[in-house]
Order: sequence, then structure tokens, then C-alpha cells
Amino acid sequence: MEKLKIAIIGCGAVANAHLQAIALCEDVEVTVLVDKVLPRARQLAGRFNVPTAVDDYRQIFDDVDAAIAALPHHLHAEVSIELLQRGIHVLVEKPMALSTSDCDAMIQAAAGSGTVLTVGLARRFFLSSQFLKQAITSGLLGDIISFDFREGTSYKWPVSSDFAFRKETGGGVLADTGVHVLDLLLWWLGDYNSIEYYYDDAMGGVEADCELRLKMQNGATGVVDLSRTRELRNTCIIRGELGSLEVETKFNSKIRLKMQGQDLTLTGRVIRNGLSEEKANDIFRRQIDDFVDAIRLHREPFIPDREGKRSVELIESCYALRQPLQHPWIC
Ligand SMILES: NC(=O)c1ccc[n+]([C@@H]2O[C@H](COP(=O)([O-])OP(=O)(O)OC[C@H]3O[C@@H](n4cnc5c(N)ncnc54)[C@H](O)[C@@H]3O)[C@@H](O)[C@H]2O)c1
Repeated sequence: MEKLKIAIIGCGAVANAHLQAIALCEDVEVTVLVDKVLPRARQLAGRFNVPTAVDDYRQIFDDVDAAIAALPHHLHAEVSIELLQRGIHVLVEKPMALSTSDCDAMIQAAAGSGTVLTVGLARRFFLSSQFLKQAITSGLLGDIISFDFREGTSYKWPVSSDFAFRKETGGGVLADTGVHVLDLLLWWLGDYNSIEYYYDDAMGGVEADCELRLKMQNGATGVVDLSRTRELRNTCIIRGELGSLEVETKFNSKIRLKMQGQDLTLTGRVIRNGLSEEKANDIFRRQIDDFVDAIRLHREPFIPDREGKRSVELIESCYALRQPLQHPWIC
């Protein structure tokens, strides 16, 4: 079978992770790297033996079957739509876009050309995330009563550009790590009924810290606390009427299971097919394998485009509810 030819558009921090994972795949090859900063694309092409590096994605339309849009958030919609309309399958990094109307236009472009569009909400590929999903849907925890998701640390992702800190390019903690958190909650627990956007510290710029409370349609209520400045617990606790599960917000994470009214806790890592230790490569490998399979087998990807839209809609609603931060010392 001929290898699927793929382009990576945007050669910053996350492109490294995609390239390392694709290097392990037999039926797909990266044939071109694109970055508006051409030396960055060339440097990465040299490291990973990619034959071509260019500075404009419009140069690749006739040369690839698929593309990964690893670009600043504000470019996700525009670039993906152009690729999809030309019959190129797209894995767009998270968040899918900055507005639900952009998500709709992307979904329409994919449907119109019969191409696969999936979103890089990679944490759904963590074994622990999948275990939590199974534990909830199988009824292990009983009806879900509440959740408490706290994720924060001082920012240290090695970005090459400044888009994550600027309002006009879709910066802020919600669209960054927050979109993973919200996507997992919506995947695990279903749709929400109401939001209380408790606070954020944007003050006209982008938020580094924020907190929201959600009431889900299944009756569960809970809190999401996100920070780029504070070290938080970095776990999600899901409490059901029969027991609770706590999961760390990283790959190869530990989970803790405690049954209601019992004093013992079961702690361990999730295993599938004997794979006991999960690495970053495994996550990106599962993601690319799923993308390639969806293209070859004409099936829906694990994270279909309409699912990518859900967390964007929630973020949009949070921003619509935003109030100026209260300073008790300012009357
Ligand atoms: N799935 C994950 O876990 C994960 C992790 C990190 C980042 N991301 C996502 O990946 C995307 C990129 O993040 P990053 O950390 O790699 O950022 P980055 O700043 O390191 O890289 C972005 C790259 O895009 C290039 N670029 C900007 N405009 C361009 C254009 N018009 N054409 C071509 N190249 C252009 C920049 O020069 C830069 O090299 C973001 O959407 C981010 O949210 C996902």
C-alpha cells in the first residue's frame, strides 16, 4: 500500500511531537513541512529527514493527501477550510477554532469534499481518560454527583511564537489547556445545562487564571479551576453515588478508586494489551493512527469534527459571561 503523504503546517513546539510519532508509523510519511519562518521549517526538516520545507501552505495543495494544522489558534479555521475544500484531510490542533461559526464552516467544508476532519484533543487518547469514560458509562461509580477538575502550573510549554499570550490570536488559559479539560468533561459526562463563569483575570487581555462551575444535564455539578500561574492539584475527581475516581491530568497517570463508605483506596495505572507505561509518543501515535485509519477506511475519526466544536461552544459561552475582575481595594 502506498504511504499516505502528510504535511505539517506550523513547525513550532507541537510539530516535534507529531513528527516523533509519525516516524514510528509505517504507512504514513511527512513529505513537507510548512512554516512562515522558513529556517524553522528547514531546521525541523533536517532533523526528521523531511524532503521539502516551504513557507506558504498554498504551495502544498497538489502534493499531499493530508495535513496537520499545528498553527496559532486564530489560523485553524481559515487554513483548514482551504485544505478541506481542496480534498486534503485535516487534523487540526486544539481548539478546533475560536468560534462556533468557524467550527460550522469547517464541518461544512469537510462534508462538502468528503474529507476527514479531526481535532487534536489528544488527552482523549490517554489510557486513564478512556478508563474513566468506561468507568462512568459502565455504571461502576453509579450516578455521577459531582466533579472537581483543577489544573495549573507556571507556564513552561516551549512555544516558538507568542500567539498564546495575545487576545487577537486566541490566547488565554481556556483555549490552551482549558480546552482539553472541558473536552474531557463533556466527553465523560455529556452536555451541560448551565455555566457560572466565576471569574477570570483577563482585564482586557488574555486570562491566565479562571474558574467556572457547571451543572451537567445528568445532574452532576462541579468546578473547573485553571491556571498558568499557580501550582494546582492537577487532577480530576469524579464522584458518583457508589464511588469516586481521581485521575492525574497527564499521560501515564495514576488513578485512584475509592468506593462509597469504604476506607480503602485502589491506586494504579491503566494498562491495555500489556502496555504498562504510556509515553507522549504513544498518545500522538494513537492520534495519527486513528486519523490515517479514518481516511483509509472511510470511517469517522475517534474525535469527529462536531465533537471538537463542543468545547469551543463552552469557551465561547464562558467569555460571553465574563465580568470585570473585582478588586476589593478599588471602590
Ligand atoms: N494537542 C496538544 O496536546 C497540544 C500541545 C501543544 C500545542 N498544541 C496546539 O498546537 C498549535 C501550535 O502550538 P505550538 O505550541 O506548536 O505553537 P508554536 O508557537 O510553538 O508554533 C506555531 C508555529 O506556527 C508558525 N506559523 C504562524 N503563522 C503561520 C502561517 N501563516 N503559516 C505557517 N506557519 C505559521 C509559527 O512560525 C510557529 O513556528 C496550537 O493550536 C496549540 O494549541 C496542542
